[in-house]
Amino acid sequence: MIIKEFDYLMKDGRKAHVRSPREEDVMDVLDLVHAVASETHFLMNYPEECDRYTPEGEKALFERVNSSEYEAMLLCLVGAKPAGICSVNFNNKIKTRHRASVAISLLHDYWGQGLGTRLMQEMIEIAKGRECVSQIELDFIEGNTRARALYEKMGFRITGVKPNAIRLKDGTMLNEYSMILYV
Ligand SMILES: CC(C)(COP(=O)(O)OP(=O)(O)OC[C@H]1O[C@@H](n2cnc3c(N)ncnc32)[C@H](O)[C@@H]1OP(=O)(O)O)[C@@H](O)C(=O)NCCC(=O)NCCS
Repeated sequence: MIIKEFDYLMKDGRKAHVRSPREEDVMDVLDLVHAVASETHFLMNYPEECDRYTPEGEKALFERVNSSEYEAMLLCLVGAKPAGICSVNFNNKIKTRHRASVAISLLHDYWGQGLGTRLMQEMIEIAKGRECVSQIELDFIEGNTRARALYEKMGFRITGVKPNAIRLKDGTMLNEYSMILYV
């Protein structure tokens, strides 16, 4: 779906603009995804795993998401460049259509500016906009204290843990936690 565009003034005074991604964003978003994966191990991909994403694939993804009633992407731009990207996904099966899921990633340069909070608020509103949705779900990796603090601030609570869900290259095992916000 195409989201409603909005602006957000960061704590340091920089202005962010949030809208659905467009074809012209493809290369910048590929760079963003790669950069964010390089900055944190709390996302699912190592940077080199982002190399499998192609401009054609990204273009097709944007087209699919923008025209689907079950998916939304929120691209956060500062000036002409992406600062982060978020997604909302709805289930479309009868047994699971009360569940929505959200995900968010921002470049390190924009952490701590209130952007995560503002984007989560918007994703929650989008999810609430679908009448059948009664819970919003997400996962985070052990140690991601900033993400956990954000989610708890928004009202999400931990509902489960998958032990050793993540194994880093150095062998470190990390748990993955599931959270739910009932709406
Ligand atoms: C996790 C992430 C989305 C948070 O976004 P953000 O813009 O930094 O969050 P905000 O500035 O809105 O801060 C949200 C809350 O985090 C908490 N927080 C801020 N700094 C923190 C820190 N250094 N350590 C722990 N918690 C912190 C605060 O409770 C803050 O709320 P407050 O400002 O009202 O006190 C962002 O850091 C990010 O994209 N990280 C990399 C990718 C990632 O980990 N994505 C999530 C995967 S589950």
